[in-house]
Amino acid sequence: MVEFDSMALQPSSPVVQPSVVPRHVAIIMDGNGRWAAQRGLPRTEGHRRGADAVQRAVEACGEMGVDFLTLYAFSSENWKRPPAEVEALMFLLDRFLRNKLDEMLKKNVRFQAIGRLTDLPTSCQESLHRAIERTAGNTGLTLILALSYGGREEIVDGVKSVVRDVQDGRLDPATITPDVFSQHLYTRHWPDPDLLIRTSGELRLSNFLLWQLSYAEFWVTPKLWPDFNKSDLEEACAAFAQRERRFGGV
Ligand code: IPE
Ligand code: IPE
Ligand code: MG
Repeated sequence: MVEFDSMALQPSSPVVQPSVVPRHVAIIMDGNGRWAAQRGLPRTEGHRRGADAVQRAVEACGEMGVDFLTLYAFSSENWKRPPAEVEALMFLLDRFLRNKLDEMLKKNVRFQAIGRLTDLPTSCQESLHRAIERTAGNTGLTLILALSYGGREEIVDGVKSVVRDVQDGRLDPATITPDVFSQHLYTRHWPDPDLLIRTSGELRLSNFLLWQLSYAEFWVTPKLWPDFNKSDLEEACAAFAQRERRFGGV
């Protein structure tokens, strides 16, 4: 189980808590294309191997006692890629959701998803909804897939939702606070990520969870996503445990 001492997160408690496991880990899974290029393989082979790394990350998070894992699997901007690559990514997503469902059920993993999911091909939407429904009763790791996801799009959708509630008389604009606005985001059911991991060495957010990462700790590795394994996750969590989270305090 999670050894999570909420006191360690208070501004008044700068003491390092080596046993702190991040409750919510978010990962920008980057570098599949470069992994393939380094081996003279097509980019799609990198994505195929990337799906194996997803499986490893899910298992490792479950074993370490992480409660929530959000994986950036396909961004709003990734639709700009060549149609054949987009098609391959959608095929791999569909196959992952179908093939891994039994294993996820056994491992007590609960599937969730964020993003403009209706953009996805119908078969992917069906596999996704099936995975979400079948695992809804699971109580272990919650695996949140960010699909056709963009942070700015999410904020715009949140603003539209707020406006609708105001127009319908359900919300008084004077009562809108950051906490209230958070309740209009795709992520309203879960706490914000504590730890953000990005592979392939890039130092940018690429439109990922712009609102929710306000106070996340960042950990970047030069490793490419298909090579990511449990020891990398452990290293990231160990680094996280050493961080002094101040939340603007002293
Ligand atoms: C991440 O790997 C997978 C997705 C963005 C879907 P990339 O495909 O971005 O790989 P690189 O960054 O080109 O190496
Ligand atoms: C971010 O990776 C998106 C995902 C990992 C799904 P990209 O490869 O699309 O990001 P940029 O283009 O390098 O910023
Ligand atoms: Mg990339």
